[in-house]
Amino acid sequence: MRATLPLLGLLLAMPSLAQEHDPAMHQQHQAAMKQPAPPALAGRQLVKFPEAMKEHTLSSMRDHLLALQEIQAALATADYERAADVAEIRLGMSSLKAHGAHESSRFMPQGMQDAGTAMHRGASRFSTSARDAAVTGDLKPALGALAEVTGACVACHSGYRLQ
Ligand code: HEC
Repeated sequence: MRATLPLLGLLLAMPSLAQEHDPAMHQQHQAAMKQPAPPALAGRQLVKFPEAMKEHTLSSMRDHLLALQEIQAALATADYERAADVAEIRLGMSSLKAHGAHESSRFMPQGMQDAGTAMHRGASRFSTSARDAAVTGDLKPALGALAEVTGACVACHSGYRLQ
């Protein structure tokens, strides 16, 4: 009789234990309770640029977005040469000088520099793949490289903001 009581307790406790350790339930519970901020808002590192450099950076950012739009429009009309040119000249390795990348990179933490490099490399890779697509008709490698480019935009924006 003495032994059955703890056993009964254990049996009663088991369903709730099982529930607590069900990973699916756990995730639901977390999602409901925590509602984490979108990554872009969760603690971005503040980076200080001189005022003129900040203005220049933001204006080249707006051109980055315009360039993506032009690339997508060109892809939609199968104008691969144009998509390749826009990517290389406005976002790729050839754009480094126009962006003043050399000057501003001195003010960037390493992770921010890496995101910038990933964007320029991805854009140049896209450019080559888009020219290939004009010959092979296979757009997948170019789309993959384009996703790498936008991935670098996202990575940098989630991590850093300008003061
Ligand atoms: C190396 C980092 C980095 C990369 C890569 C990057 N950005 Fe930005 N971008 C920034 C920072 C920093 C800001 C300022 C954000 C802030 O202070 O809140 C910004 C701001 C912007 C803005 C707002 C401009 C304004 O006038 O306020 C746009 C639009 C933008 N980026 C587009 C892009 C696009 C599109 C890409 C990719 C093709 C890109 N950016 C890649 C760092 C980056």
